[in-house]
Amino acid sequence: MKQFTVEKLISDGYSFARDENGKVVLLTEGLPGETVEAVKLKGKESVEFWKTVRVVQSSPDRKIKGCKGFPDCGGCDWGGLQYSNQLLWKKRIVQEQFRRVGKFYELPDFEMIPSKKTNHYRNRMEYVAYQKGKKIGFGMYKRFSNEVVDVEDCDLGYEGFGKVRRTFEEILSRFGVKPYNRESKRGFLKHLVLRGNRNGDIVALLITKRESFPEIDKISREVKEQLPEVTSLVHVFNSRDDVVLRGPYRVIYGEGIITETLGDAVFQVPPVSFFQANVFVMEELLKYVQQELNPSPSETFLDLYSGIGTFAFYFARMFKKVVAVEGIKISSRAMLSNARINMISNLEAVNMDTRDFLEKNEEKFDKVILDPPRAGIGKDIELIGKALPKRIVYISCNPTTLARDSRYLSNKGFSLKALRAFDMFPDTHHVEVVAIFNRV
Ligand SMILES: C[S@@+](CC[C@H](N)C(=O)[O-])C[C@H]1O[C@@H](n2cnc3c(N)ncnc32)[C@H](O)[C@@H]1O
Repeated sequence: MKQFTVEKLISDGYSFARDENGKVVLLTEGLPGETVEAVKLKGKESVEFWKTVRVVQSSPDRKIKGCKGFPDCGGCDWGGLQYSNQLLWKKRIVQEQFRRVGKFYELPDFEMIPSKKTNHYRNRMEYVAYQKGKKIGFGMYKRFSNEVVDVEDCDLGYEGFGKVRRTFEEILSRFGVKPYNRESKRGFLKHLVLRGNRNGDIVALLITKRESFPEIDKISREVKEQLPEVTSLVHVFNSRDDVVLRGPYRVIYGEGIITETLGDAVFQVPPVSFFQANVFVMEELLKYVQQELNPSPSETFLDLYSGIGTFAFYFARMFKKVVAVEGIKISSRAMLSNARINMISNLEAVNMDTRDFLEKNEEKFDKVILDPPRAGIGKDIELIGKALPKRIVYISCNPTTLARDSRYLSNKGFSLKALRAFDMFPDTHHVEVVAIFNRV
């Protein structure tokens, strides 16, 4: 056990300190200025990872997060920091990653847009099944761990989620459903995922290790009776331990989709498809992107990593033609049905890997959006240059990969014009960033 003084918060949720020899130490917890006690987890030549055990001297910027799972729960790693300081540190992290990783030494100043809702803002919660005494419980993973914590009064998900989670615990325990254990590889039920919309409808997904689900018909009758807000129940079979929302599914009752509106566009989201988790901030983000895209009815638009077409549909009427590229078949197919619902006829949905598309594509596009997963796109981003866009809008939930890819774009003749950060995930270290590039 050793004491450290935290210097700053950095990317990926770590607190940065140095040991007596100046070596970098990344801590699992601790606010800037705090002295903490920690134990070593692992070390490399240049950096060591330590687990914070106790805060010895706490910061005046600490706040009380009135939730039983805090501070162990991985859902809210920054829940102990005043909200205004969260915004400040998120902005600093974006600046630091652009300087350190992207080598942008004269970054334009940018706004950090707060979330109007700092709790009950998430429309999707992925709870982990675990053995809660004699019953089945649904909790969240501890920070940097596979252990599960109770999230009895969690305030991240939409307001109705707590009651639904508790009722599922009670019904499934009565039917003797056993939680799956990742260590022993025994058990059956892995996750309860709740997806909601702003009308209060909830789609509940039960994700299991094996395909057959004994007594699901009886269970579903009870769910329907006790939880009228659960408009659909879906069974997802996913044998993989590293991803949650993946695999074939069967709709037990209801339509199995969640419907949400953004601007004039209506979205029907299949149960396992990606959809932005904080629609309140997403509305702000879309307005900014519109302003920076500056669409024209004579221009063409390419939406890469399009999902079910959030950007494609929002902007479709403002462009002559939209091509939306998405790797997952279900999401790509959902674009076609969403096009019919929204009466959009100028959209072409392409179900293809982004790299394959960019390699084969010979078409020119005036404006391009890309919104990849956390890993970013990497050097393949240079292939976008072939389409000769005037403007590229890169939306990212990972400032490190965004900074890296921005450097590639910048070296290929696209200058970084502006940035704006959006706090889609209050009480966590996560931040969404929009970067705008012009072809020089
Ligand atoms: C962060 S989500 C963004 C989705 C969409 N832009 C939205 O706002 O709803 C990333 C999307 O990229 C898709 N994806 C991931 N890797 C891909 C790849 N190599 N090629 C094409 N699509 C990919 C995922 O299935 C997911 O729908």
